Amino acid sequence: MFSHEDLQSLQAKSLKMQGWIRRQTFSPESEKILRRFSSWEVSELILQVNQSTFRGRLAAYPSLPAGEVEEDGRQRWYTLDEINTLRRRMKINRKPLMPPRPPGKRAFRAAVANFKGGAGKSTVALHLAHAAALDGYRVLCIDFDPQATLSHSMGLTDVTEDHTVWGIMARDLIHETERLNRVAAGAASGTTLPRRRLPDSITGMGLDALRVPDFIRPTSWSTIDMVPSCANAAFVEFASAQYRHLNPEWTFFAAVGRYLDALPDDAYDLIIFDCPPAIGYQSMNAVFAADMLYIPSGPGYWEYDSTTSFIGQLAEALEDLDHGFSGHVPEGTGQLPKAFLDVRFLLTRFEPGNDLHRAMFEAFRSVFGERVAEHPIEMTRAVEQSGRFLSSVYEIDYRDMTRETWRRARATFDRAYGEFRGNVLAAWDKLEDSA
Ligand SMILES: Nc1ncnc2c1ncn2[C@@H]1O[C@H](COP(=O)(O)OP(=O)(O)OP(=O)(O)O)[C@@H](O)[C@H]1O
Ligand SMILES: [Mg+2]
Repeated sequence: MFSHEDLQSLQAKSLKMQGWIRRQTFSPESEKILRRFSSWEVSELILQVNQSTFRGRLAAYPSLPAGEVEEDGRQRWYTLDEINTLRRRMKINRKPLMPPRPPGKRAFRAAVANFKGGAGKSTVALHLAHAAALDGYRVLCIDFDPQATLSHSMGLTDVTEDHTVWGIMARDLIHETERLNRVAAGAASGTTLPRRRLPDSITGMGLDALRVPDFIRPTSWSTIDMVPSCANAAFVEFASAQYRHLNPEWTFFAAVGRYLDALPDDAYDLIIFDCPPAIGYQSMNAVFAADMLYIPSGPGYWEYDSTTSFIGQLAEALEDLDHGFSGHVPEGTGQLPKAFLDVRFLLTRFEPGNDLHRAMFEAFRSVFGERVAEHPIEMTRAVEQSGRFLSSVYEIDYRDMTRETWRRARATFDRAYGEFRGNVLAAWDKLEDSA
């Protein structure tokens, strides 16, 4: 017989092993550190400038960052900050190297979502974030999944639950309840708007004292910040059900959207959400706050099946919100019914030489048409390996594997990112101008 106490002792053992693995995986201080990038990568892959032009420019302008030469090599190696300085200060054929951003708009929000477990959501979110940062964008990642895969990959392991999406939601409940009570107090006499009182167990957690930046953590990438998650945030699904009961007028699904609306428009360019493999309170917040949905799916028949039910159930959940809450969403936090600027399906773990995979790609294309990304993400050994080391292909030093394996892996993520960027820019243009 196994009681909750037995489960606790099994977990305690497992946590010890987890700590050990983290110490082996990250640097001795168990802190993730971003490597430098070689002048070959910086010129050809990152800034996309021909190597000799790049060298010429560096020679002509000695005030540009010079990188560092490693002991046994001739190449120069640059930090992300140095690369960003080069990007700001260099022009090629009089064209600036800064990535485009439509003026007058807030940051663009993309949710990577599917309720199929292991579809590749976190891998896709991680690589899109890293590719976007190398492209010169400032990125905020939000981990909506208490499995915290993305948080761990970004090196954030010491997270307490009040500093996660759950904290944002509970804080929002407090603020929204106060706001709704003020509305009720100000309403003309005769109207009976209910007043709600939250229990001390919620108001006493100190969450209403947290400010917007308190939820945001820096990562080893200087231009990527993150609202991380942790395993303890898993109880959010239970807690949220209780919170809704305490205040049925609370638009629980708009909590994170409201939170993001409070960020300055120019603090970030892209906001990327990694969603849990479920439709629940956290993923509804992600979906409601998102401008664009990116739905990764494996290339097998079962994955096609479950992706189909995912969009069906998501549609149902969004329809329920519309019926239950229309008229309740305060202005400026998105509208009901929820409408996305774009929705895309992205096949992952794709093997171009596999007949079944190719057939499934055709099936996806024939059903969803151009909603299916043209460039699936291929199955790569580098990523399997990077999964173990909790790193993206961009973080892996190409000298740690055969150059061909690394280039192939990087190329597939680059193509997927290139397409994502095009979709983002097209949708971003359609986003309402900020007030
Ligand atoms: N392109 C790829 N090539 C090889 N392995 C991959 C690829 N994409 C994902 N994987 C592997 O598949 C597994 C699941 O991927 P991932 O964690 O990204 O999925 P997920 O959808 O986020 O899962 P969950 O539903 O649990 O959140 C991981 O071990 C990952 O390393
Ligand atoms: Mg995941």
